[in-house]
Amino acid sequence: MELLITGGAGFIGSHLAIHLLQIGHSLTIVDNLNSYYSKERKIAQLNRVRQVGDINFYHVDLTDEEAVKKIFQTHQFNAVVHLAAMPGVPKSIELPLIYLENNMKSTVNVLKWAGETNVKHVIFASSSSVYGNRDGVPFSEEMVNGEVASPYAATKVGGESLCHVYQSLYGFDLSILRFFTVYGPWGRPDMAIPKFIKKLLNNEEIYIYDQESARDYTYIDDIVMGIEAVINNPRKKEIYNLGYGTPIKITQLLAKLKIHFPQMKVKMLTPRQGDVKMTWSDISKAKKMLNFSPQVDISEGLDKTIIWAKEHKEYL
Ligand SMILES: NC(=O)c1ccc[n+]([C@@H]2O[C@H](COP(=O)([O-])OP(=O)(O)OC[C@H]3O[C@@H](n4cnc5c(N)ncnc54)[C@H](O)[C@@H]3O)[C@@H](O)[C@H]2O)c1
Repeated sequence: MELLITGGAGFIGSHLAIHLLQIGHSLTIVDNLNSYYSKERKIAQLNRVRQVGDINFYHVDLTDEEAVKKIFQTHQFNAVVHLAAMPGVPKSIELPLIYLENNMKSTVNVLKWAGETNVKHVIFASSSSVYGNRDGVPFSEEMVNGEVASPYAATKVGGESLCHVYQSLYGFDLSILRFFTVYGPWGRPDMAIPKFIKKLLNNEEIYIYDQESARDYTYIDDIVMGIEAVINNPRKKEIYNLGYGTPIKITQLLAKLKIHFPQMKVKMLTPRQGDVKMTWSDISKAKKMLNFSPQVDISEGLDKTIIWAKEHKEYL
């Protein structure tokens, strides 16, 4: 298939691109290589993709409609995986308008030009953050009610709504994927697991904002398998949770890290604005409809991530 990945120089996008090239797809990647984290890191991620096969790469900002139009008119894509976004909760509280402008505008441009050029299937990267602050229950797809806790999450709820608008205008198949805390080699450096590992490797103290919090950590290879399954199963309009399916308390995560770093020092802080208490995915729909079956539990995933981190200290 001829596929477009937006945000393909990013963490999830570069892993996905490598896998899709390995199984024979033709790829175009669009990325503005923004400075949310280091550009050198993104170029390294893109170079990993290029080592696997030839791609068309456009260093383009998706908020630029003319540039987006040109790309869609140059290639006839069978499917688009729209991953590009400003990610991360804390920064979105600091810079809400940047998040709104970037995430909403790029999503409108991608959806509109996918529709105008008869792309068959649009896949949108949403997030567990759309469930807002819930505690003690797995999140199933119909539970979203718009009550979210950060501007970032609001851009994901808004992005999902825009997907419904353009799906009804143009009739393409639509898959909305809600990812749950993705980690692994090349994991985004602003996220908890990579931040902890970097500090622990440097013998520094790590900070915990909320001892009671829990996350459904999902290993990158499982997310890539989930996206591949979605590409192979286009349907008129579906929403899927892609997570591991088990919430891990921060205290459990620390206990696992302590096995690797027995000298670990932890400082407890107060909860951060915008962070939700818990995420926990109900993945029964993805299991049933996509045969989605996450393989890597947190212990194995952490082992692999720590091995990677030790070998790539320059990118942490
Ligand atoms: N990593 C996670 O745990 C997680 C969880 C839930 C949802 N998501 C979503 O998955 C997607 C990928 O996340 P990631 O962790 O790989 O983040 P990432 O920051 O590594 O990748 C996103 C990429 O998009 C690019 N980008 C952003 N705005 C752009 C624009 N206007 N034009 C062109 N390129 C642009 C960035 O330069 C970056 O390379 C995002 O939409 C994110 O919100 C991620």
